[in-house]
Amino acid sequence: MDGRLAVVILAAGRSTRFKSRTSKLLHELCGKPVIEWVLDAVAPLDPVQVVLIYGTHSAALAARFAEGYRGRSLDLVLQDPPLGTGHALLQAEPVLRSEITHVLVLPGDVPQVRAAELQALRAAHSQAGSPHAVLTATLADPSGYGRVLRDRSHPERVLRIVEHLEATPQELAIQEINSGIYVFDRSVFAQVRRAAEEFGAENTKGEYYLPDVVRLAPTAAVSAEEPLEVLGVNDREQLAQAEAALQARLRSHWMREGVTFRLPETIYLHHDVELATDVEIGPHCVLTNGTRIGTGTQLIQGCYLEGCEIGANCVLLHVRGTEAVLHDGVRAGPYVNLRPGTILREDVKVGNFVETKKADVGRGSKLPHLQYIGDATIGENVNIGAGTIFCNYDGYTKHHTTLGDNVFIGSNSSLSAPLTIGDDAYVAMASAITKDVPPGALAVARARQENKLGYVKLLREKILKRNKRREDAAKGGAESAGDALQDEEA
Ligand code: UD1
Ligand code: CA
Repeated sequence: MDGRLAVVILAAGRSTRFKSRTSKLLHELCGKPVIEWVLDAVAPLDPVQVVLIYGTHSAALAARFAEGYRGRSLDLVLQDPPLGTGHALLQAEPVLRSEITHVLVLPGDVPQVRAAELQALRAAHSQAGSPHAVLTATLADPSGYGRVLRDRSHPERVLRIVEHLEATPQELAIQEINSGIYVFDRSVFAQVRRAAEEFGAENTKGEYYLPDVVRLAPTAAVSAEEPLEVLGVNDREQLAQAEAALQARLRSHWMREGVTFRLPETIYLHHDVELATDVEIGPHCVLTNGTRIGTGTQLIQGCYLEGCEIGANCVLLHVRGTEAVLHDGVRAGPYVNLRPGTILREDVKVGNFVETKKADVGRGSKLPHLQYIGDATIGENVNIGAGTIFCNYDGYTKHHTTLGDNVFIGSNSSLSAPLTIGDDAYVAMASAITKDVPPGALAVARARQENKLGYVKLLREKILKRNKRREDAAKGGAESAGDALQDEEA
């Protein structure tokens, strides 16, 4: 394609309908801010320059992109006060590089727009040979948008764009709308100034309208292939609609890559998750923050995985993982909380009802029931009994526990860190372990059991006697309540 392209993103508007403390462009869709969807959509066009026009209401954008975006620089220009879309585009002129011949203009709030749609507009612009091209969309409900008035004798051309507020009843019936996305020759800046002189800001909004340039030079109208994808996000409802559409897009992408979703509409994905072929995801799963899942792994149901790296052929059910790393063949769940710093090596089994944190668990080890495992290094083929707690915190500092290979921890034990338990050691159930255990040793740390033979008969007689005395006292007997109590405690 001939010409050197600049992209100008208009983002200085006040976005009042969004009712937010921050710019609507920084609200996230599938884990990525609205504006970044737009920046990513323009990147494949390989623009020489990207200019972002921001306003006092969207100053946070300038802060966010001060260092550019994904390794490319961004020219940030403040429009203050915002006097309309025409005025907004003019702000780009002083920073525009001399080699630029074409300008793609789009609003910052069109997260669904695809690079292919923009490429098509650019191609149509160069083919049409007219200085302007506008992307249009035909909508069942066009209200609120500028209407496209085509030239009767040259229907491929636009004569005028009439804003909703200024349209006649006849014009309001037009369903073809201006998407707010244009490709212009560089000459557009001169024409925006001319439009300002000729038409001024004498309209209902009192603004300099960018679409007025259409009246000054031939403009090609290009219909969007997917009309809904060029629409803006002006309020929270449209944000939710855009998110639903982008979710559906992400899911179809992964299904085409060989991933099975059961009940796909209940699965929520961030834009940056990575799923291998033959991953199977059951109902009600949420995968965020770049979670990666290896081939053949099954999330049966109800998993929430944030920034996790999951290997191949794992099976997870009701697992909540945050920044956890699971190697191949891990079985986890149900009801497992894998907190940051958890590493489960090959074939580890975790759960039900287990919480792990900063725990590196060696190959083949089993943590099957009701445990807290924090700040730990655990060797291979270790078995940790039900109800075991790693006591890692003394109220001030976290301490580490190290278990060697083939260690066996009996149920309901407490392991008080700092602690090292050597290879092949055995901890008897219900032990409170406070000292290191050498390799191969058996550690028992609880009171020894004592059996009092025949004692139950004596005990029962004692209880019956006491109850009798209490009854007598209640009937007004000589014994005071205090005496009875004393007797009981003896
Ligand atoms: C605009 C178009 C309308 C089109 C619609 C598509 C005009 C006059 N109308 O209407 O034909 O159908 O978009 O969504 O252009 N902006 C600035 N500075 C300003 C004003 C706006 O940067 O002074 C930015 C906004 O942040 C926004 C974009 O320009 O990203 C569009 O402005 P907005 O006020 O939303 O225009 P609409 O009334 O939606
Ligand atoms: Ca708008």
